[in-house]
Amino acid sequence: MRIAVVFDTIHPEWDEADFWREFDAGVEEAEYEVADALRRNGHDVRLVGIRDDIRVLVDRLAAFEPELVFNCCESFRGNAHYEYAVAALLEAHGYRHTGSPATALLVARNKSMSKKILRFHGIRVPEFAVFHAGEQFLRPSAVRHPLIVKPLLEDASVGIAQASVVTDDTSLEERVRFIHEKYNQAAIAEELIEGRELYVGFIGNDELLMLPPIEMHFGRLSKTERRIATWKAKWDMEYRERHKIRTGFARRLAPEILARLRWTCETAYHALWLEDYGRMDVRLTHDGEVYVIEANPNPFISYGHEFANAAEKAGLKYRDFIERIVQLATTRHEHEP
Ligand SMILES: Nc1ncnc2c1ncn2[C@@H]1O[C@H](COP(=O)(O)OP(=O)(O)O)[C@@H](O)[C@H]1O
Ligand SMILES: [Mg+2]
Repeated sequence: MRIAVVFDTIHPEWDEADFWREFDAGVEEAEYEVADALRRNGHDVRLVGIRDDIRVLVDRLAAFEPELVFNCCESFRGNAHYEYAVAALLEAHGYRHTGSPATALLVARNKSMSKKILRFHGIRVPEFAVFHAGEQFLRPSAVRHPLIVKPLLEDASVGIAQASVVTDDTSLEERVRFIHEKYNQAAIAEELIEGRELYVGFIGNDELLMLPPIEMHFGRLSKTERRIATWKAKWDMEYRERHKIRTGFARRLAPEILARLRWTCETAYHALWLEDYGRMDVRLTHDGEVYVIEANPNPFISYGHEFANAAEKAGLKYRDFIERIVQLATTRHEHEP
């Protein structure tokens, strides 16, 4: 197949050869690994890197006439809020693309909108309140401390630190104001759900392959520190090492817990319009309840990272995993009007 791999780059002026040169030099980027897997699977592949000019995308696709776009875009104009817009543009132009549609990318990014939909479908989500800048501050009585305050529209634990967890209204208001000022967007305060932190990957559409759940272990955080995936706990290797924070396959999940995880996450996957692949971030409480913290319609699919490793454990080596996504996207589109 002719497949264009579309991604965001800081080098929109580069052409095909420049990107491959960087890949050959050992630079690790999901889009290069995906493109390489597609190439080795026998496809005719074109790398289309974009940054802030839609015309680059439109022109390069028009010239190549791909049968499928492999969408690796996580932002536009350097802003992750426009992740959905690239998918929307592809859809408006009539290009078939892999992964979730613009609707899912838009809704899942909004931590309030997505929870409202999940609740409608009978899924447990934390109680929450949204605070917009310029409105009078008042915590609804139904939303109880301790709370975790997050930017409404970010991902990758941007804006999440130990100070995100608050236990009284004064610190809540302070943290909400901090989010308004630093991230220029509304803040969401959610009840803090204590429990195991699990990430559950799925591949599929009508029938979903659930990947082995991954767990984040919080190691040696002190008694006063909250067991949450802060930005540092996710990305600061030195901090992770110091506190013995690690992620690995979740062990000791009883069959009935696995069944509950499956039902909850599959329902959430479909409720939020995810397609082809995605990951659910959940909390499993001490009494076996599953709370969905968020859905990720566009998770990292780099070689050697969590999602790909879980796929491999489920029997899909990287090349097969990428090919499965191609097949899913293609057959899904065959059924579309
Ligand atoms: N309501 C909550 N209860 C407990 N922990 C939470 C809650 N919300 C977020 N967290 C912690 O913060 C992390 C990041 O929050 P999340 O909503 O997944 O944002 P992101 O999109 O940045 O990943 C979660 O993985 C979890 O550890
Ligand atoms: Mg998350």
